[in-house]
Amino acid sequence: MKDTKENPSVPFLIGKKIILRPLVEKDINKKYLCWINDREVTKYMETGVFPTTLKELNDYYNRIKNSKTDVIFAICDKKTKKHIGNIKLGGINWIHRFANLGIMIGDKNYWGRGYGQEACKLLLEYAFKRLNINKITLGVYSNHKRAIKTYKKVGFVIEGRIKGIFYIDGKFLDHIIMGIAQKEYIKKYGNF
Ligand SMILES: CC(C)(COP(=O)(O)OP(=O)(O)OC[C@H]1O[C@@H](n2cnc3c(N)ncnc32)[C@H](O)[C@@H]1OP(=O)(O)O)[C@@H](O)C(=O)NCCC(=O)NCCS
Repeated sequence: MKDTKENPSVPFLIGKKIILRPLVEKDINKKYLCWINDREVTKYMETGVFPTTLKELNDYYNRIKNSKTDVIFAICDKKTKKHIGNIKLGGINWIHRFANLGIMIGDKNYWGRGYGQEACKLLLEYAFKRLNINKITLGVYSNHKRAIKTYKKVGFVIEGRIKGIFYIDGKFLDHIIMGIAQKEYIKKYGNF
């Protein structure tokens, strides 16, 4: 997204290579629609199985914008400000203080360059330090090696496995549940 007077891309969380900023209405555009409808991008996601329209994307955006239990950020290249994907802390339970993490780097040129790890680290820091979330979980297909490595590197561990539940390319694969608790985060990254 280009900076405009009406729509400045204000950073919210700042990393070395990326910034996380609020996802704004202008981001709900053809580029994002192409990511969601790109089989390579969504191959390991439940999103994208059925075709998505701009209206559906807008509805999704409006639901999240008005939600008290989901926070979504645009992941942007720090240098160019280019919007390359999104990361979400979803399903926040304010009593038990858990939430789940979802990430999609839609711009394939940015895969495998450490952007996913940095985005996850920024989101964990935000969730544990600022929101006082106690536990973050996520689900991943067992054959998504790049994602599993990403999550392990930022501190997630495998906590569960549902066998043979996801049908991908002719095979039923396991659903891997990964998690990290606030105290484990502090052990890895140091006290707040
Ligand atoms: C999954 C995703 C978030 C990972 O982000 P990324 O920026 O591509 O990943 P990173 O570069 O930060 O880290 C990937 C790590 O996995 C490693 N890796 C890459 N391919 C691998 C493979 N096939 N097997 C094992 N490890 C692999 C990389 O070497 C790197 O580890 P390193 O830092 O030790 O070198 C991103 O690729 C993405 O959004 N993909 C599309 C949507 C998606 O699948 N979302 C997740 C659904 S669970």
